[in-house]
Amino acid sequence: MCHIIYGHACGNALYPIFDFNGRPTMTQWHKTDWRKKPRIQMPEYTDADKLAQAEARLSQYPPLVFAGEARRLRKALGDASRGEAFLLQGGDCAEAFDQFSADAIRDTFKVMLQMAMVLTYGAKVPVVKVGRMAGQFAKPRSAPTEVVDGVELPSYRGDIINDLAFTPEARIPDPEKMLRAYTQAAATLNLLRAFSTGGYADVNQVHAWTLGFTESEKAEQYRDIANRITDTLDFMRAAGINGASAHTLQSVDFYTSHESLLLEYEEALTRLDSTSGKWLAGSGHMIWIGDRTRQPDGAHVEFARGVQNPIGLKCGPSMEADDLKKLMATLNPDNDAGRLTLIARFGAGKVGEHLPRLIRAVREEGANVLWVCDPMHGNTIKSATGYKTRPFESVLREVQEFFAIHRAEGTIPGGVHFEMTGLDVTECTGGMRTVTEENLSERYHTACDPRLNASQSLELAFLVAEELSSLRVSRQETKAG
Ligand code: PEP
Ligand code: CO
Repeated sequence: MCHIIYGHACGNALYPIFDFNGRPTMTQWHKTDWRKKPRIQMPEYTDADKLAQAEARLSQYPPLVFAGEARRLRKALGDASRGEAFLLQGGDCAEAFDQFSADAIRDTFKVMLQMAMVLTYGAKVPVVKVGRMAGQFAKPRSAPTEVVDGVELPSYRGDIINDLAFTPEARIPDPEKMLRAYTQAAATLNLLRAFSTGGYADVNQVHAWTLGFTESEKAEQYRDIANRITDTLDFMRAAGINGASAHTLQSVDFYTSHESLLLEYEEALTRLDSTSGKWLAGSGHMIWIGDRTRQPDGAHVEFARGVQNPIGLKCGPSMEADDLKKLMATLNPDNDAGRLTLIARFGAGKVGEHLPRLIRAVREEGANVLWVCDPMHGNTIKSATGYKTRPFESVLREVQEFFAIHRAEGTIPGGVHFEMTGLDVTECTGGMRTVTEENLSERYHTACDPRLNASQSLELAFLVAEELSSLRVSRQETKAG
């Protein structure tokens, strides 16, 4: 008996796509194909039965996001690649089970809305808001083990894999953690959806989003922008221009993203979208490939190439032009604007050495990409007090270098990617309300890399807004001239 399910009509022929077991009948991609490729940065689970059970359970759970949403984000990112929108992507380095709270989610969401307001004001284009949230649990590590006081244990790889506690038991990868991560992601996304559409994100609330850092000059500047926005809204209401745009102003599109690192989790949540006949990673709207797992023939690239979500690709100093060309061809064969976001993370002082050569590679291929700056991952240092930190000046300098090079090359700086939180942590040094190396121990809570706190995030948004607004002015002058 032939168990073939026929796919879309193409000309007069019907091409078989999947057999009875949901396996491809020809050469199509399948969500399990990554298993045939070399994998790195993934745990070696010791209990195969427990892993199989966790995967089976997860495969029955509903996807967290829907294909139409991922397609809408792709379109918005395409706009950003042309300078018609700007991407703001931010959130924790690693979400953690014991730091899960509605207040933390609300505060990060709120700071991102504030930053988006400031950016919109400077750029005069829509800001696409994407959280590193609701799935950002798995972490690549620079070493497979860590040594403390002469004791060597496997590295912590994120709460979805093992525990931060420094004991042999805590560091054993446990597949059941994937189920807890899913639950936390689902609850996070539920709250984000409520905040986005339930009135909280209504632009008329622009004043209510102030965070209470009254002494900060940036808070003053934010209030000034908020006043102007309120004025404009009052004017629009008075002039009767509020009807059609009411929905736009009262709700906000907020998307989720994470590094697609733990492929057992990703595969289990990947589904075939019946509308398009294409696969969707149901774990988040956008997924990215980390700087350590972007081998063109590796498992992570194999997985990402087959799903229709927008894909991010981290580009560090070791990214070769030839590899980038291969990756662009593999990940975006249709050269669709919005499919591929290149997230540059070179480190302050190194952008000039690397970004122009990669921009050249993109140009040589005629590739459509969105360029985004991650000024965090190339600027991590160890403080004299022993904490992993990032100096605010380096973060800022990398952003400025990114903008300067795009301006010189005539290409589009389309977004920023930050590790940040709405909480008042002391993890990165510097900023207007200066965090010193001595302060770091006060509220150092990150499960992994140091994040910008609320005040530093807002300050950075103003600086990016200035860059965007001066770029806009110089473009207008070029046009006029
Ligand atoms: C991250 O974004 O948390 C990360 C590990 O980044 P990268 O792959 O750029 O080092
Ligand atoms: Co990080």
